[in-house]
Amino acid sequence: MCGIVGYVGSEQAAPILLDGLARLEYRGYDSAGIAVVSPRHELQVKKTVGRLRALSDLVHGGADVEGTIGMGHTRWATHGAPNDVNSHPHVSENGKFAVIHNGIIENYVELKEFLISQGVTFRSETDTEVVAQLLEFYYNECGDFFESVGRVLRRIEGAYALGMLCADCPDRIIAARKDAPLLLGFGEGCSFLASDATAIIKHTRDVVYMDDGEIAVLTRGGIQLYNAMQQPIEKEHHHIEWEVSAAEKGGYPHFMLKEIMEQPDALRHAIAPRLRGGEIVFDDLKLTPEKIRGFDRIFIVACGSSYHVGMVGKYNLEHLLRRSVEVALASEFRYSDPIVDDKTLVIIISQSGETLDTMAALREAKKRGAYILSIVNVVGSSIARESDDVLYTWAGPEIAVATTKAYSTQLAVLDMVGLCFAKLLGTVKEEEYADAVRELALLPDKVKETLGHCEDIQKYAAQHFHHESVFFIGRNLDYALGLEGSLKLKEISYIHSEAYASGELKHGTISLIEDGTLVIALGTYGPLFDKAMSNVIEVKARGADVLALTTESHRNEMAKTVDHVLTIPDTAAMLLPSLGVVPLQLFSYYIALQRGCDIDKPRNLAKSVTVE
Ligand code: F6R
Repeated sequence: MCGIVGYVGSEQAAPILLDGLARLEYRGYDSAGIAVVSPRHELQVKKTVGRLRALSDLVHGGADVEGTIGMGHTRWATHGAPNDVNSHPHVSENGKFAVIHNGIIENYVELKEFLISQGVTFRSETDTEVVAQLLEFYYNECGDFFESVGRVLRRIEGAYALGMLCADCPDRIIAARKDAPLLLGFGEGCSFLASDATAIIKHTRDVVYMDDGEIAVLTRGGIQLYNAMQQPIEKEHHHIEWEVSAAEKGGYPHFMLKEIMEQPDALRHAIAPRLRGGEIVFDDLKLTPEKIRGFDRIFIVACGSSYHVGMVGKYNLEHLLRRSVEVALASEFRYSDPIVDDKTLVIIISQSGETLDTMAALREAKKRGAYILSIVNVVGSSIARESDDVLYTWAGPEIAVATTKAYSTQLAVLDMVGLCFAKLLGTVKEEEYADAVRELALLPDKVKETLGHCEDIQKYAAQHFHHESVFFIGRNLDYALGLEGSLKLKEISYIHSEAYASGELKHGTISLIEDGTLVIALGTYGPLFDKAMSNVIEVKARGADVLALTTESHRNEMAKTVDHVLTIPDTAAMLLPSLGVVPLQLFSYYIALQRGCDIDKPRNLAKSVTVE
């Protein structure tokens, strides 16, 4: 989704802004722009629809816009088509104020009508322009930039991460946040603003995450933070641990492939510190055993792939805990009048920790008294900070829009939560627990072994990339796995695909199977292998071209019916999707590669969905 970067220091701002925006490219965008204050205190605004390359060409890599203070933005259109005029920064009528904005100003129509009635002329169709025009309006009243910002913030409703420049105050950027991520970076004689640490990590690791209602004034001499009452406040600084190289391709053609290949390490980081002497130990969990025993309802709430982690989790947690677990899409949960009270545990899953629907669901559950345990990748993100408890996945930055290593680590952490709670509640057999813990320790190596089948998968992708419709079928954990396999395929290759519970085929879907239809049959879950085979036979009989995924121990059995078989190593049943997802990620990747798709930045998608 939209990206923000800001800089004030002694170096030329434009190249720093362009580099920062390039590092935010992965979030998805359709236009980009920068505003730099010139040494003569004039605002220079350059923006264009299309890729960053176009913006960089427009300003000759930054050489055309002289100045040591500025802001940059990548826009993902919501209000108004992606075009030059609607791109950010937006400038007020007299050219004195520039604004960049992530989020949506919900009452912009009313504000726009008010400003038009005051004689203001608008240029764009965006909600953001009202912020620039309002700033000018209030500045004309009070003559003070900071005071004008306060007045604007009291008028606007909705979600925002804002960066604001005023030509009359050429030494400062003012930033404000509500319901959209924004962080501040502290450098030597310089200050930074960013929607995502990736944009500024090259320059500083010393950051402060802004909270809702806060305002910041960035100057060369440092950053002063204020609360919503505009009173100065002090906040804890965070040190970003990961390396710049983690956000670079490191020789891989795509971030997605790099992140698929990083899964053994990512899993090691997520699992190893939490395994001790054959036990699962969460040093980072505040929940007490009494509290865990007191929960009578469990929800898992998330979006997209994180929701698919929840689908696998439902099977595993219900089996382990012997209590019902509901999985809900955050966008539905938040408006569903959910049955949640102080005996409810709500597990929130999010890679970015900023997904707006997930955040809103968290707040809804919290309002109703639930205990919030979140599983999050991005340290210090909004969801992490608003949860009662947070378990980080430690996967490192995930850049490709399609999630891979975040999915795997979320799943491992959720499985560990299930096992840990089950042990405490006495609902899991000793042998099953011990076996799962042993297999968890082996999981990174088994994922590595699975990655070794890359060439086979590439070969199948070359045979199948022309299909326009694909079906994933499976039962139980394999059904949940199929949901993720299908999403991966459609989002990056644009092939229509659906995942079905195999038992449902004969209730309607099987009518879609005809000669040559590609069916990916998932048969990794041992207890239902025979049932899975019956469904494979059913679709084969109707002419389907079946590519099967099973465990090594079932390979021969599967190969009797199906021509193409991919395998994963055997493991504890609950961990099968953690291995099974790897060939499906690779299959989608290679299919998208064959079809010449923009793999890391699929059309219409954004990495972090901070609008509803
Ligand atoms: C798909 C994908 C998305 C995200 C979803 C939730 O590959 O990445 O479906 O899983 O947008 O995002 P987070 O986990 O950041 O809340």
